Amino acid sequence: MSRVTAWIQERLPISGDSLRELTNEPVPNHLKRWWYALGGTPAYLFVVQIFTGILLAFYYEPAPTTAYESVRYITEEAAFGWYIRGIHKWAATLMVAAVILHQMRVYFTGAYRKPREPNWMVGMCLLLCTLGLGFTGYSLVFEQLSYWGATVGANLTEMVPLVGGFLKNMLLGGATYNEHTLSRFFILHAAVLPVLMVALIIVHIALIRVQGVTELRFEDEPADAPKTFNFFPDHLYTEVGIGLLLMILLSALATIAPAHMGPPADPLTTPEVIKPEWFFYVTFRWLKLFSGTTAVLSMGFIVFTMFMWPFVDSFIRKKTKFKEASVWIGIIGVLLIIGLTVWEAVVKH
Ligand code: HEM
Repeated sequence: MSRVTAWIQERLPISGDSLRELTNEPVPNHLKRWWYALGGTPAYLFVVQIFTGILLAFYYEPAPTTAYESVRYITEEAAFGWYIRGIHKWAATLMVAAVILHQMRVYFTGAYRKPREPNWMVGMCLLLCTLGLGFTGYSLVFEQLSYWGATVGANLTEMVPLVGGFLKNMLLGGATYNEHTLSRFFILHAAVLPVLMVALIIVHIALIRVQGVTELRFEDEPADAPKTFNFFPDHLYTEVGIGLLLMILLSALATIAPAHMGPPADPLTTPEVIKPEWFFYVTFRWLKLFSGTTAVLSMGFIVFTMFMWPFVDSFIRKKTKFKEASVWIGIIGVLLIIGLTVWEAVVKH
């Protein structure tokens, strides 16, 4: 053993074998199929977001007088600024898509059932944090749609009965959008939500390690095929491969469809068309269909039911004869989400 290795061993008595044992968790065979191992994709994209977000924060200035100009500087003048901003924007989009797809796979394979109900709820918190990051990030550019999107969002918060006024005040730092609002959005986007997300991902993965992932068997698998394979290096190599492909895809998207800038925020001129990011289209359409408090309350009820779904599903399976109701409810839910999203995408208002 070299003197350097001996010096490190004395202070950090961790051997290669113990590390291998710690990481070499046997993984069920179905995780070889990408659709079933989708959880790794948002985790990877989140790391990309942290990295590119820190680089953007070196230049971004979160004040109404400076924000737009600092984003313009990043996009048009800073070295590779357009690339970093493009990657950040596209990774956000892909992350939302990956979280939704991962949640759908967990849902349709019934992997949220006992004993994984708490992890489903942690997952729901992750979904809300991901959407929260999308909403606050969109507001930071301080272009017209950033300003008016945030204003619409805050007005909706106000419609929550009893605490709405308080929530709106907390979000905006006053009764209306003012000079303190943007720095609040920035702190939420660059500190509060990412830290919360890191904590939630740690709990999510810890629960997966403790409970293991749900074991699924497929018809095309021979009965005597091994049920598991090694996390290290087999699964890790697959994840690294997916990570590299994602990096190529992100680079291509950032180059072909770079993040651009709309007109700067103008509190005195309401734009003719206000549209949020695509992942809020479904909420936006819902809000247009049912006005005011009804829309906000029904949306709250849907999110609450999603949180409690493992228990609702268990109740349906035990107390009724509709054992596979979750599949049909899931299909209707997905069709509804696609329908409302497409509807909002094709119409002007
Ligand atoms: C940033 C967001 C998320 C990350 C990084 C993440 C990560 C992961 C990973 C790595 C796994 C292991 C198996 C797999 O890859 O499918 C997993 C499993 C799981 N996730 Fe997530 N997840 C996220 C969001 C969610 C959401 C939104 C839900 C549901 C509301 C959820 C519920 C679950 C459950 C219940 C399992 C266990 C699945 C099983 O036993 O087969 N996760 N997650």
